[in-house]
Amino acid sequence: MQSQRFYPPAHFSNAAHIKTLSEYTERYQESIQNPDAFWAREAQRLTWIRPWDTVRDVDFHDVRIRWFAGGQLNVAYNCVDRHVQRGLGQRTAIIWEGNEPGQSRKISYQELQSQIEHFAAALRGLGVKKGDRVCIFMQMIPELPVAMLACARLGAVHSVVFGAFSAESLRDRINDSCCKILITQDTGVRGNKQDIPMKAKGDLALRETPSIEKVIVVKRTGATIAMQSGRDIYLHDLLAEAPPSCPAEPMDAEDPLFILYTSGSTGKPKGVLHTTGGYLLHTALTHELVFDYRPEDIYWCTADLGWVTGHSYIIYGPLCNAATTVIYEGVPNYPDFSRFWQIIEKYKVNLFYTAPTALRALMREGDGWPGQCDLSSLRLLGSVGEPIKAPEWLWYHHMIGQGRCPIVDTWWQTETGGILISPLPGATPTKPGSATLPFFGVEPVLLDPSGKELHGEASGLLCLKSAGPGQMRTVYGDHERFKQTYFSQFPGYYFTGDGARRDEDGYYWITGRVDDVLNVSGHRIGTAEVEGAIGMTAGVAEAAVVGFPHDLKGQGIYAFVTPMQGIHGSTDLEKAIKESVRQHIGSHATPDKVQFTHGLPKTRSGKIMRRILRKIAENEPDAIGDISTLADPSVVESLIAERK
Ligand code: PRX
Repeated sequence: MQSQRFYPPAHFSNAAHIKTLSEYTERYQESIQNPDAFWAREAQRLTWIRPWDTVRDVDFHDVRIRWFAGGQLNVAYNCVDRHVQRGLGQRTAIIWEGNEPGQSRKISYQELQSQIEHFAAALRGLGVKKGDRVCIFMQMIPELPVAMLACARLGAVHSVVFGAFSAESLRDRINDSCCKILITQDTGVRGNKQDIPMKAKGDLALRETPSIEKVIVVKRTGATIAMQSGRDIYLHDLLAEAPPSCPAEPMDAEDPLFILYTSGSTGKPKGVLHTTGGYLLHTALTHELVFDYRPEDIYWCTADLGWVTGHSYIIYGPLCNAATTVIYEGVPNYPDFSRFWQIIEKYKVNLFYTAPTALRALMREGDGWPGQCDLSSLRLLGSVGEPIKAPEWLWYHHMIGQGRCPIVDTWWQTETGGILISPLPGATPTKPGSATLPFFGVEPVLLDPSGKELHGEASGLLCLKSAGPGQMRTVYGDHERFKQTYFSQFPGYYFTGDGARRDEDGYYWITGRVDDVLNVSGHRIGTAEVEGAIGMTAGVAEAAVVGFPHDLKGQGIYAFVTPMQGIHGSTDLEKAIKESVRQHIGSHATPDKVQFTHGLPKTRSGKIMRRILRKIAENEPDAIGDISTLADPSVVESLIAERK
């Protein structure tokens, strides 16, 4: 079937950074054939303290990834100070929109610089120095980016933990990277929730985190919270004592910038490590070209700062380009379903970047909500996090973009640091549902399960031969695990964990994860972690978790659970299971469906056949296929009969 094509409007292309497909192709070819020259030229957009010796030293066999070795720079300086020095101090860096309409703050580049310096000086006063790890556990408040950039200024490595994670998840992340400081807030507000316990969760986590020396608490709500004397200090008290200035630490291009934990198909979450020079260059360049960013644009990415999209496309990429970036504390449906559109109207947002899960939820509420708002400021729309299907793509195009705005469907991962496959809006004709073509420096390939490269139109496992300078360098503290996870299946290639199809135009269509990782409302969740959390519930013998198609979330979580002998699968047990997942992981990983069963489909050697469970969860019993290798084929029948 020929898919519908949408061409970049002429008025857009004429003014765009990259104006035609042939211009894209030419630059793409150069980036692959002559990467050193390409990236050396692009790296001029950053301000270096010392130039690099070697542009690129990358080997996917030995798994060595180094960019701009010998070069020195500071990320916070590049994102803030240099703009102030160029006379842009009065430009708004951050527009913060609070949870309640009417609550907002604008922070100029000048103010941001002062706040970062002051915060960095305070951290330094607590003994934080280059290379130390600092954990940040906060909601979307302005002090969060200030804290991140203060770390970057000092050369401390931040590890931001998404605010919905449980105390246990927070504890494990703090311990994995031995963080010295925790920065948090008293309580948080989000939508109808007015007292999200942040500090209290931190206190629980900190019962078992020997590395933490101090806790810095931002007063967001003024709620009464416990403060442990000698350990906990309010930010405002700390700042009152700290000097106002703090020099930016010269960092090597390959010094760590941050750690961000992400889930895989096995084991505990991995600390994805990103470094300084290559990451900043990749996020800044993609932010400029993929969103066709121009000075004075008001740019809004709705992601959470607890995930990589927030790091790369709310903070580092946009600020490096001296953009005005919007940070919103709340949710799309508070106080009503027009909130996103109200914010666009209020700030005259030009570039808007969101996730399909939000679009689905808003689309379902009807055209009246966006219809009542003035969206004429919008110039470009972006999508990230999961495949965007044709219905929401078309709604986004017609209803939000009013047929005028190109849509960039951007494919990438925590590991890749920034966008790898995406249209360039002035150049690439789009097809709803396709992320289209690789960005500069990126060589995607499709492999068959034996590792053979597929050419032309094909479907296969999405791997990368090269990924540009923003790619992760290692798993924090465990380089062997980095090699094992990403480079062992197909030597010489980075394996993304995604499947994809390439069509007759060479366009990529991401079909989703091919491993045991779920994508629930854009949140990445490992099935093994959820199974582990369910298994800790009293009365549970065994659990297997798979995904199923969910209208709003994209994927929902379906848990098959075998109770212990003599225990019945009751509503109470189901409640306890959900509570256990919330406690051990966080509320975003709560199973949507729990089906009790007396047995799971296993091979004679005891391996659970997830393929079968997936088909049952997807309600496609006819597609189950051969079950003759099961130890007890009869379980399949009862699983189907008792499907939720
Ligand atoms: O499966 C792909 C999906 O999200 C995964 C990466 O998740 P995470 O590391 O949490 O990063 C999300 C934000 C970059 C990918 O392996 N994914 C991300 N973007 C897209 C996507 N799937 C289809 N289309 C996309 N545009």
